[in-house]
Amino acid sequence: PVTVYPNPIEASIAVAARIAKLIRDKQAKGQNAVLGLATGVTPISVYAELVRLHREEALSFKNVITFNLDEYYPMQPAAAQSYVRFMNEQLFDHIDIDRANIHIPDGTLTQEDIVAFCVSYEKRIEELGGLDLQILGIGRTGHIGFNEPGSAPNSGTRLVTLDDMTRADAARDFGGKQNVPAKAITMGIGTIFKAREIILMAWNSKKAPIVKKAVEGELSAEVPATYLQLSDNVEFILDEPAASQLT
Ligand code: F6R
Repeated sequence: PVTVYPNPIEASIAVAARIAKLIRDKQAKGQNAVLGLATGVTPISVYAELVRLHREEALSFKNVITFNLDEYYPMQPAAAQSYVRFMNEQLFDHIDIDRANIHIPDGTLTQEDIVAFCVSYEKRIEELGGLDLQILGIGRTGHIGFNEPGSAPNSGTRLVTLDDMTRADAARDFGGKQNVPAKAITMGIGTIFKAREIILMAWNSKKAPIVKKAVEGELSAEVPATYLQLSDNVEFILDEPAASQLT
């Protein structure tokens, strides 16, 4: 299903409310909530609203376990562009989550350690009972996570090469495209698919063409987000400009 909101703020508040409800329902049952998280511009207001709910409405994250979708490779956690730093600044530094419950792909690994790391990332998610909810943005290439065109529907967590357009879109953060890492570690399409609920968010008319392809286009490895059409557990949450090309 597709839900369209007048603007990103209203949409983000609705998404944060769903996350908060999941966390509280799990708390009531004495269980953990296992969340798959995204970085980038799109989820920033969701995280801000979660921080507000923590501060003003006593939402606790003590029972929350998180797995981030991706990280650039190579990447030092302290670097300005690292997704570790992004998550700390946007969310983790402001809530009561147990640091041991945070998982983000490790951009500091040596090449030969990456495969074992990716296998253990998948295994850890499974041991915890799988992702209850995965939050996604969408790149202009149609990527979800950093699953660029050509990604297999059953792909797992792995090292990937970033698409040229993705690197161009990240150029501003890195002070030039030549400084954007060529690679990333990302959860796979298959990893994302196993989540019990998936929410893909997109704001802005710049995303309208790729949103149209993702929602209405033919299934294709050229637009990895089209695979989401195969899942019954996906909701596309859009603002009006991002939804403007949908029929
Ligand atoms: C980020 C991620 C990416 C972004 C996508 C959109 O963890 O996995 O797929 O969601 O590139 O980025 P923004 O939100 O910056 O437009």
